[in-house]
Amino acid sequence: MWRPFGKSGGKGAAVVVAALALALSGGALAAGRLWRWSPLPPGASSPAIPADNPMSAAKIALGRRLFHDPALSRDGSLACAGCHRQEHGFTDGLATHVGVSGQAGIRNVPGLANVAWRSPLTWTDAGLKTLEQQAMVPMTGERPVEMGMKGNEAELARRLSADPCYRALFAAAFPRPGRQGGAIGFGEVAAALAAFQRTLVSADTPYDRYRAGRHDALSAAARRGEAQFRAAGCAGCHGGPDLTDNRFHYVGTTALGTAPGYGQPEPGADAVPVQEFRTPSLRNVAVTGPWLHDGSAATMEDAIRRHASTAMGQVTVADMLAFLEALTDRAFLADPRFGKPAGKCEVMPA
Ligand code: HEC
Ligand code: HEC
Repeated sequence: MWRPFGKSGGKGAAVVVAALALALSGGALAAGRLWRWSPLPPGASSPAIPADNPMSAAKIALGRRLFHDPALSRDGSLACAGCHRQEHGFTDGLATHVGVSGQAGIRNVPGLANVAWRSPLTWTDAGLKTLEQQAMVPMTGERPVEMGMKGNEAELARRLSADPCYRALFAAAFPRPGRQGGAIGFGEVAAALAAFQRTLVSADTPYDRYRAGRHDALSAAARRGEAQFRAAGCAGCHGGPDLTDNRFHYVGTTALGTAPGYGQPEPGADAVPVQEFRTPSLRNVAVTGPWLHDGSAATMEDAIRRHASTAMGQVTVADMLAFLEALTDRAFLADPRFGKPAGKCEVMPA
C-alpha cells in the first residue's frame, strides 16, 4: 500500500526507501515528494509516475473526494464511482452504463485494481497512455457522452470553488504557482483523480500469497486450474502480476465488422485493427461481471468459451473457475481508504 514518505520507520529505513524510490523512478519524483509503494504484488516494480504529477497525500485526498463526487457530471447525478464501484472491483455489475444524457454506453466498465500499471488504457485506444489523459474521457467525451462536462469547465470551477472543503483541498494539493497553481479546472481535477487511482493497489489475493511462496493459499482445485491456465496458453496473454500483457488481441469474441461503435477511427488516430481488445486484467475477475468488452458474457465460463482459439479440451471448468475465484482481493474490495470520504473535510498537508 502507498504511504506518504517519511511518516513511519526510522531514519535509516527512510534513507533506504528514498534511494530505492529514486532508483525505481529514474529520479522523476521530486525531493520531498517521494512515494513508497508497499507491498506490491509479487513480481511488480513501482509504477511509473509522470514527472509533472508527483504523488502527495493532499492530492490523493482531493482525488478520492472528486472520484466519489457527482458534481463532476453535468446534472450532478453521476460520479466516477457511479460506474466504478469498489465492491465490484471498481466496475458496476452492468453490461454497459447509460451516461447523463441518456445515451447508452458502448463498452463494459473495466476494473481499476492496479490501474497504475495499465497502459495503454481502455479496451481499444492505443493512444491513451496516462490516467491524466484518460480522466478527461468520461468527463468531456462525446462518443458516448458519460458525464457530459464538455464545454462546462467554468461551471465545474464554480461548483468546486463554492465548497470551502474543495478550496482548501485544491490549495493543499497544488500549492505552487505554475501550470496547476491551485486553480480549479480540468487539468487539476484530472491530475488529482490520477493520483488517487494510482493508490488503488491490490496485492493480496490468494494467488498473490501462493506466488509469494505460500503453497496452501490455493485450494487443490485452484492449483489444478492454475496449471491448466498455463498449459492451455491463457497466461500467454493473461500473464504477469495482473494477468494481462497490456496488449491488443483478436480472440474471436466479435464477428468481423460487427463491433458496435468501433471500426471508424478518427482521421489520424492511433488506429487499432478492428475487433482487437486489450487483454483485460483478471485481478478480481470473479466480481467484475458481466464480462467481455460489451458485457455480453453472463458467466466467466461463457467469456472463456467465447475465445475462439481456446484449447478448452485440456481445461476442467470447475478447476479453472476455482483458480479465477482465487484472483479476488477481498481486502481491496473493502479497503476504507478507497471508499467515499465521510462528510468531514480532511485536508492533508502537501
Ligand atoms: C458512465 C459510466 C462511467 C463513468 C461515469 C466513468 N467511467 Fe471510467 N470507464 C467506463 C467505461 C465504459 C470504460 C471503458 C471505456 C472503453 O474501453 O472505451 C472506462 C474506463 C476507465 C478507465 C480505464 C481502465 C483500464 O483498464 O484501461 C479508467 C482509468 C477510468 N475509466 C476512470 C474513470 C474516472 C476517473 C472517472 C470519473 C472522472 C470515470 N472513469 C467515470 C465507464 C465510466
Ligand atoms: C490471445 C490472447 C488471449 C488468450 C490466449 C486468452 N485470453 Fe482471455 N481474453 C483476451 C482478450 C483480448 C479478452 C477480451 C475479449 C473481449 O472482451 O471481447 C479476454 C477476456 C477474458 C475473460 C473476460 C474478462 C473480463 O473482465 O471481461 C476471461 C475470464 C478470460 N479471458 C479468461 C481466459 C482463459 C481462462 C484463457 C485460457 C483458457 C484465456 N482467457 C486465454 C485475451 C486472451
